[in-house]
Amino acid sequence: MSANETKLAGDVRASFIGCGVMAEAIVAGLLREEMLSPDRIFASHPREERRRELAERYGIHVSADNRETAAAAGDSFVFLCVKPQRLGRVLEEIKDSVSPATTVVSIVAGATIRKIGESLAGENVIRVMPNTPSQIGAGMCVWTASPEVPAENRDAVKTMLRALGKELYVETENMIDMATSLSATGPTFTFMVMEALTDAGVHLGFSREVAKELVQETMLGSVKFAMESHKHPAELRNMVTSPGGTSAEAIYQMEKGGLRTVLSKAAYAAYRRAVELGKK
Ligand SMILES: NC(=O)c1ccc[n+]([C@@H]2O[C@H](COP(=O)([O-])OP(=O)(O)OC[C@H]3O[C@@H](n4cnc5c(N)ncnc54)[C@H](OP(=O)(O)O)[C@@H]3O)[C@@H](O)[C@H]2O)c1
Repeated sequence: MSANETKLAGDVRASFIGCGVMAEAIVAGLLREEMLSPDRIFASHPREERRRELAERYGIHVSADNRETAAAAGDSFVFLCVKPQRLGRVLEEIKDSVSPATTVVSIVAGATIRKIGESLAGENVIRVMPNTPSQIGAGMCVWTASPEVPAENRDAVKTMLRALGKELYVETENMIDMATSLSATGPTFTFMVMEALTDAGVHLGFSREVAKELVQETMLGSVKFAMESHKHPAELRNMVTSPGGTSAEAIYQMEKGGLRTVLSKAAYAAYRRAVELGKK
């Protein structure tokens, strides 16, 4: 990342409502890339033990009070990072502590810009859909903003998201629900394939350690190869499919088992669920 990309205005503050796994990933990224100093980061959490852990690990301000944490952001950024089922209560709680000038950044699956805007009496809302590899700076964040978000605040959020890996701005909110299925739920698909292949290796007779290493390195190498070669996956697959060979036999079994259909159905089901969560 260039020095320009890591620059945030000196008066930026960020408050995190609900500092669990994803909020911690953002906090850690902001500090790692030196985008914000710890004294400009505020986090609320209901559990004392978790607050102590966050304060000790990052030196940020912590509080049990969501209102106090939201107000500490001033006109800067309030990140909503609670689970979808807790959002309604949290919005009700903080509504008088968030000024209309504050940019509210929600990572909550399904929660629409309209719902958040109406609950907080402000239209200044950004929706982000991160994923778990954000925890190691290898994330994919898809985001969009309401027209009311000032250009400099969009730029600031874009900069902050780069601390987590790649970011992609999309024009329509429906694409956030689509991304919830593909990039946010995506690691689940990958981990399940990883687990199934490792188990298959153990079934063949490898130790779990060896099977795990073979599968992980093969998946990592295949993704890098696909990205660097810019070839269509079918072309890469054909390159290793000799007539009557092992890949041809494995492909036959995967097609027979409906692998593509299962993946397609899973992605569509995750999308429908994201839309459903937004209606609740
Ligand atoms: N994980 C992902 O891959 C992913 C990807 C994209 C988007 N998201 C979205 O990100 C959001 C957070 O997910 P997460 O995985 O970080 O979940 P998480 O680890 O459970 O974080 C949520 C945190 O909020 C705390 N909390 C509960 N009630 C609260 C309240 N009233 N006020 C303040 N904090 C409260 C929880 O405390 P306890 O631990 O005590 O319950 C928990 O630590 C979700 O809305 C999810 O849809 C997650």
